[in-house]
Amino acid sequence: DLPSPPGPLSDTSAKLVNVPSHPYIAPGPNDIRGPCPGLNTLANHGYIPRHGIVTPGQIVEAVQEGFNMGNDFARFLAYAAHLVDGNLLTNLISIGGKTPETGPDPPAPAIVGGLNTHRVFEGDASHTRVDTFLGDNHSFNETLFQKLVSFSNKFGNGFYNFAVAKEFRFQLIQDSIAANSQFLFTLPRYFSAYSESCFPIFFWIDGRNPTGNLELDVARSFFETARFPNGFFRANTPTTLKRILGGIDVLYNAHPVGPGANNGTVNSYAVDPTSPTFADFCGIYAGFVTHIVRPLYPDAQGPLLDALNKNLDFLYSATVIGNMGCTQVPHFT
Ligand code: HEM
Ligand code: MG
Repeated sequence: DLPSPPGPLSDTSAKLVNVPSHPYIAPGPNDIRGPCPGLNTLANHGYIPRHGIVTPGQIVEAVQEGFNMGNDFARFLAYAAHLVDGNLLTNLISIGGKTPETGPDPPAPAIVGGLNTHRVFEGDASHTRVDTFLGDNHSFNETLFQKLVSFSNKFGNGFYNFAVAKEFRFQLIQDSIAANSQFLFTLPRYFSAYSESCFPIFFWIDGRNPTGNLELDVARSFFETARFPNGFFRANTPTTLKRILGGIDVLYNAHPVGPGANNGTVNSYAVDPTSPTFADFCGIYAGFVTHIVRPLYPDAQGPLLDALNKNLDFLYSATVIGNMGCTQVPHFT
């Protein structure tokens, strides 16, 4: 039987997390890493298994312990990822590319491709990874990072902060509109892209530092090397669903862009009115279940259907813990 998701930390204060029992070890040739610098860091420090094949529960536990992600948000991301990128039969997910190490796949159209899989979670207009249509969607890209550096110099006095994030999030969208004919910026990417622009501020500023300013060498350490700085303290405030939605609002209000896509040519961005907006978090939850998860499992049966519905319960539990007031999408049959 599937284990229930871990509960919240009992002590959410800042603390040293780059400890001797979790040393940085660069990934070996058989260790999998992917598009998420947060999870890559947790793997490089052994907060999740270093080979990069994990359970969603291990992800929840580690993002709470290492970065003080709130229990609601941790569940939401971990089970969302597992539902689209993981193996529901073995309860394993790769934090990078597809691998037989997650066990025998359920039947197509299930993908079980790990976090590198484009569209279902990973998406366009990332900060330090290029759009799938244009190249490698999971490896650190120095040219993109230099753009973040120049925005931080221009808008943040040499730091990454909300003043920078407001401008950089908008610029990344403009850049993808202009360069990527296949640019796709609807659910779930619309939500994840805006969230991730806040992550460096909420998760990577040392928990003893109240300025809201992230030093660029610390940003590089996480984005590129996926390594905690020496002496790093995790944040002193859990980042819950409501907290991230507050951060998203700040970015969105600076330059409102609706969810949408290019239509196969560059510079053709059109808003898709069927894709939920940030004002409708329950629509994001329900749309993800109905339009992203369901098509991967059109006729699951037996143990697969069971695992699917259990993981959908775990996803929904995130919205309950976060007091989001959502109605659960009915179980699949
Ligand atoms: C990006 C998964 C937690 C930091 C991503 C991406 C995935 C992902 C699939 C790629 C999206 C894209 O850019 O196209 C997850 C899951 C998590 C999680 C399943 C489970 C809780 C975290 C945490 C942090 C973090 C705790 C920070 C400590 C980031 C950042 C990006 C990102 C900054 C954007 C990278 C970029 O745009 O270059 N994550 N993540 N993530 N993640 Fe995570
Ligand atoms: Mg991406």
